[in-house]
Amino acid sequence: MKVTIKPANPDKPHFVGHVEGVDARKPLAPQQIAALESGLARFGVLVLRDQQITDAEQIAFSRSLGELEHATGDLVQGADRRLPMELNDISNLDRDGKLRALDDRARLFGLGNRLWHSDSSFKAIPARFSLLSARVLPAQDGNTEFADMRAAWDTLDRATQAEIRPMIALHSQLYSRAVLGFDFSDAERQAWAPVRHPLVRRHGETGRLTLYLSAHIGAIEGLPIPEARALLRDLTEHATQRERTHAHVWQPHDLVIWDNRITMHRARPFPPGQVRDMRRTTITDEVPTLAQPHAA
Ligand code: OGA
Ligand code: MN
Repeated sequence: MKVTIKPANPDKPHFVGHVEGVDARKPLAPQQIAALESGLARFGVLVLRDQQITDAEQIAFSRSLGELEHATGDLVQGADRRLPMELNDISNLDRDGKLRALDDRARLFGLGNRLWHSDSSFKAIPARFSLLSARVLPAQDGNTEFADMRAAWDTLDRATQAEIRPMIALHSQLYSRAVLGFDFSDAERQAWAPVRHPLVRRHGETGRLTLYLSAHIGAIEGLPIPEARALLRDLTEHATQRERTHAHVWQPHDLVIWDNRITMHRARPFPPGQVRDMRRTTITDEVPTLAQPHAA
């Protein structure tokens, strides 16, 4: 099947593409993989409609884009997990498929997705691509919004670009969840020690610079914490202005793929008490960000 990709929104021809000609249940031909990869480099986010896939099919399809990450960042681990380690559980369900209570810690932890972020930026080797499959949707709301971080960099003033270009940020799930008011055990503090990433990265495929922001950032090396946090607020506000964002309105069986190096995203609220079952496979970036040859 020939793959075609068109801008989702004619007013933003460089951000978010709609893909036709891919069946995620079947093995992809090399030219289909190449089309998806170049589409991701161009649009940052790709939307594939009507992909009624099983977990095994999602895993197999995702592997054609690279090596899978394991869901070690999920709060729920071991026998309590609903899904295999190849899938991040982006749902409000427990391991028996029952709706979690409003005060359930795992549900509340999941609200971290409502903050603008880049997936797995709290890992030493973060996510390259994410693939999110919509299995069960609430009757209304629950959009996912995306921000174009190459455009965010390009539209910063020169002085700010020069100031932040060499900065190294510290990322941890402790920081993003502290924003929501979480407390942590000593074991969690140890497991989620901060990792270092450049605040500005170069995207290997296109050579373009991109602002590598995420709610997981809590500090910038060499800056007092309040100074760093005030700067991060300003940069995040700039990056998420409406002209640089896109709201994806989900349909059942949508499969949305994004490049975490050049986008941020966040979940939007939906009526509590309704099921939202989304499953995410994640492709690792393979090399620590500061060791990537094109990083500078
Ligand atoms: C994710 C995520 C947003 C959403 O899957 O990584 O942040 O709308 N999801 O569920
Ligand atoms: Mn996410």
